[in-house]
Amino acid sequence: MTPRALPAIDPRALRDACGRFATGVTVISTVTEDGDHGMTANAFMSISLDPPLISISLDRKARMLGKVREARRYAVSILTSGMEPLARHFAGRADPTVTQPFAHLQGVPVVPGASAVFVADVTQEVEAGDHVLFIGRVRHMELSDDAQPLLFYGGRFGAVA
Ligand SMILES: Cc1cc2nc3c(=O)[nH]c(=O)nc-3n(C[C@H](O)[C@H](O)[C@H](O)COP(=O)(O)O)c2cc1C
Repeated sequence: MTPRALPAIDPRALRDACGRFATGVTVISTVTEDGDHGMTANAFMSISLDPPLISISLDRKARMLGKVREARRYAVSILTSGMEPLARHFAGRADPTVTQPFAHLQGVPVVPGASAVFVADVTQEVEAGDHVLFIGRVRHMELSDDAQPLLFYGGRFGAVA
């Protein structure tokens, strides 16, 4: 068989195309000897109900990667529509007005008032190009009532109409 050259996929075009997939917004958080750390993420996925598994995808350049590797556990807080400033704060634009962003659930930092919170132990790490997937077994979960989600689409935050 003659090998055929595959068309090159431009990373920016790929990011824009993937940005057409509307998502919610989460803050991933963990704790190490250096203290609590949070990071805004939309690459969150439910994987399995039985056993209860979720996954996150971390950029190799994110500080969060080494911290999750060290802690072997992480929390995912699903943000509500009023939490856009928090999402920006944890996406590398530190906001001095955000002083006490976390409460603690089972010793792991979580965002108070989030629409749902999961605390998971890492069960599997999957190397995937410039990201690493961390599949986690859910150990604790909390839900709040009637929360409106914060959305992300086309590189912008939004809310359900
Ligand atoms: C809406 C949104 C979603 C994001 N999703 C992810 C993600 O799923 N994984 C990731 O590694 N970075 C994601 N980022 C980028 C990180 O939030 C950003 O690089 C952050 O500053 C990394 O923090 P750290 O290096 O302190 O851990 C996202 C940013 C935004 C605004």
